[in-house]
Amino acid sequence: MNRVVQPKPEYWAEAGSAASAIQLAGINVTFGSGNKKVEAIANIDLNVSQGEFVSLIGHSGCGKSTLLRVIADIIKPTRGSALIYGESPDMARRARTFSMVFQQSVLMPWSTVLENVRLPFKVGSRNLQSSSQAMDAVEALRLVELDGFATAKPAELSGGMRQRVAIARALVTKPRILLMDEPFGALDELVRDTLNVELLKIWRKAGTTIVFVTHSLHEAVFLSQRVVVMSRRPSHIEGIMEVDLPSERTLDLKDDPRIGAQVAQLRSMLDAG
Ligand SMILES: Nc1ncnc2c1ncn2[C@@H]1O[C@H](COP(=O)(O)OP(=O)(O)O)[C@@H](O)[C@H]1O
Ligand SMILES: [Mg+2]
Repeated sequence: MNRVVQPKPEYWAEAGSAASAIQLAGINVTFGSGNKKVEAIANIDLNVSQGEFVSLIGHSGCGKSTLLRVIADIIKPTRGSALIYGESPDMARRARTFSMVFQQSVLMPWSTVLENVRLPFKVGSRNLQSSSQAMDAVEALRLVELDGFATAKPAELSGGMRQRVAIARALVTKPRILLMDEPFGALDELVRDTLNVELLKIWRKAGTTIVFVTHSLHEAVFLSQRVVVMSRRPSHIEGIMEVDLPSERTLDLKDDPRIGAQVAQLRSMLDAG
């Protein structure tokens, strides 16, 4: 099994630290009450280290998005504790410690690409633009290789390009953690493959920690250092697989038989749950 290799950060993560980025302990999430009660997450403990790329996989409706939303302070857990660099999700949200990217890019259709990337400066924290936490929107666009499209409108872009704008918008606040909920799930396979490689480049350059939800086992193996397998609802962690692949992952690795073998291993872990 591979040692987990920390990417060399160039942009904003602190170098050389093996700090815990995310610590989840005894997380339970129950929605509703009475006979409408749904226990989504039963008992989840998970630590994610700074700079790690971790994917969450599990059957549809098992609670992947719910777990990501607990980290993002969108949902309060019914029981258990979530710490982001030792702080509550609420404090981490206000400090812009994390950003989230969803399956739909949710861009403002009447605004240009650049204005869309600048949006986080206009909402929430008023003094962000002047703080050292902010990255120039142009630089964020360069990071996703869209610097030539600053003045374009979202409708002029392909689905894959729109997702790249959403990633640039998430990066512009220099988050230490990027939470991604099936960000490439609506794209066709070829575009997804290209964006997978680009995301890894960004991850290395930025030195950010990524928690990535996907229903594609193949994508999870290709991208991650660790894959967390969630059981069916009420979900717990069925197992965690350390991915055994070279740390440099290029497009030709997509067809590597080692990926197929690890996908099969994940599938049997999913079936067990
Ligand atoms: N706000 C909510 N209110 C009630 N039930 C919810 C809510 N959000 C999610 N659920 C339920 O919790 C379970 C887990 O949902 P979700 O986290 O979206 O699953 P996944 O992302 O793994 O497909 C599902 O049964 C879903 O219907
Ligand atoms: Mg989901």
